[in-house]
Amino acid sequence: ASGHPTKYHDGTMVPKYSSTSTSTGTRTMLCRPGDGHTRACSHFQMGLRAAAAGALDQFGAASNYWHLGDSSYESLLSDHFTAVTPEIGCKWSDVQAAPGVFTFSECDRVLEAAEAAGQQFRGHTVMWASGDSGSAAHAWPAWLNDTLSAAELRDTLKTHVQTVVGRYAGRQAVYAWDVVNEALDESGSIGDSLWAKLGTGEGGERDFIDEAFHAARLASPETTLAYNDYNIASMTGWSAAKSQGCYDLVAERRARGVPIDAVGMQLHVDTEYNLVSGVQANMRRLGALGVEAHVTEIDVACAPLGQSCADVGGWTAAREEAQAQVYAAVLAACLDEPACTSFTTWGVTDAITWRRDERPLLFDEKLEPKLAVQAIRDTLAANRSWVDAYYARAEPAFKGADGGAALEGGEDSTLLIVLLAAGIPGATLLCVGAALAARHLLRRSEKVRLAKVPSTPSAREGL
Ligand code: G3I
Repeated sequence: ASGHPTKYHDGTMVPKYSSTSTSTGTRTMLCRPGDGHTRACSHFQMGLRAAAAGALDQFGAASNYWHLGDSSYESLLSDHFTAVTPEIGCKWSDVQAAPGVFTFSECDRVLEAAEAAGQQFRGHTVMWASGDSGSAAHAWPAWLNDTLSAAELRDTLKTHVQTVVGRYAGRQAVYAWDVVNEALDESGSIGDSLWAKLGTGEGGERDFIDEAFHAARLASPETTLAYNDYNIASMTGWSAAKSQGCYDLVAERRARGVPIDAVGMQLHVDTEYNLVSGVQANMRRLGALGVEAHVTEIDVACAPLGQSCADVGGWTAAREEAQAQVYAAVLAACLDEPACTSFTTWGVTDAITWRRDERPLLFDEKLEPKLAVQAIRDTLAANRSWVDAYYARAEPAFKGADGGAALEGGEDSTLLIVLLAAGIPGATLLCVGAALAARHLLRRSEKVRLAKVPSTPSAREGL
């Protein structure tokens, strides 16, 4: 517990935590709100939002409009996140369920709630590339199907993109759009879908990805346009092929003027995820390409996709600890890589998640903070203990190609331990420790924001 003053839900200032008491099973922070009465506060008083401000352009969460209007849900969102992504409500089947009939009430509702809370908004998602026609799971309406000719499909796509992205073009809160979602298969090639009818993009003809991004840029020149997918975050391990496919897709299209500004790494992972160093390396190479890397949908579930928590021995204190470490390690990778400007969890509470019973999020089903909240707070405050614990547990062999977060933290603490063992007097150690901490902070401060990718004039002319 720290002495940071912050606002309590009812607006009173909380001078500081009076003390922390941990009863068995739940953690209760005792707070002394401005009214002087000590009472258990159900959330960490200093919301993550205050802690994250300035560290990243967006520290966000998916917002499910079904729960807007519930004050405790809205407080959770507004206390802890600087941005939201609509979990549902802005997808094709939400906004154009019938051909030519656009309804934006659900999408507007999420954006208006974000604006009211002073938050930014990530449009999600203009078109979902994989899956079958009419697939609810992929938010496709049934009328979008193979009966449409290539020309009809191309016009339909351009009209949809320009109508949806154009509608919000003037809204300052809208910082990005996931223009194309999940077009790649696990090998890293563009998966087979209805959209294959528009060709492959060779020989000058635009494929559906090119069409979508050009139309989005025309509709909203100032908004960051992202390609969003899962299993593309780490360039090492089991996701290497799909990650490479994503990198190649973005590189070669940008080379021909397709305005892809960012890659959205969904990161739907679990507590045993052990590829964060590969995620950081991928963020770095995307940055070298001039592309932003956004963590767009992270959730860290009890068990891998397709398994249940029961399959892996249930939810334990060790799992909650591992979950906190994974969240902290991914956040640290993002903080340490200039290309990573945005970090979003796919929801806020385990009570409202697509990964039912998997406890993937930062707050439990009673909206109470889990260890991951403290781990994120500490990581934002440059305390890398959770990150070091992740690398020690999940990637002990990680030596960091060039300055991975753990290496940096590990190096510094290792050096201090060596000096201590050598019997160096405490005062000297203190100076060394301060110097190392300053070095770490200086390196973070060198984090220069990548200028947003300029739109290529040819992209505008070419439409
Ligand atoms: O609104 C209907 C409701 O009337 C009906 O009773 C209920 C039962 O069928 O379904 C409700 O709609 C569901 C909707 O979620 C609201 O919860 C849809 O069927 C269901 O398909 C939809 O699932 C969402 C899914 O995207 C498809 O849109 C998930 O909540 C959402 O978490 C998931 O998010 C995706 C990202 O957009 C892309 N990345 C992967 C991620 C997880 O799949």
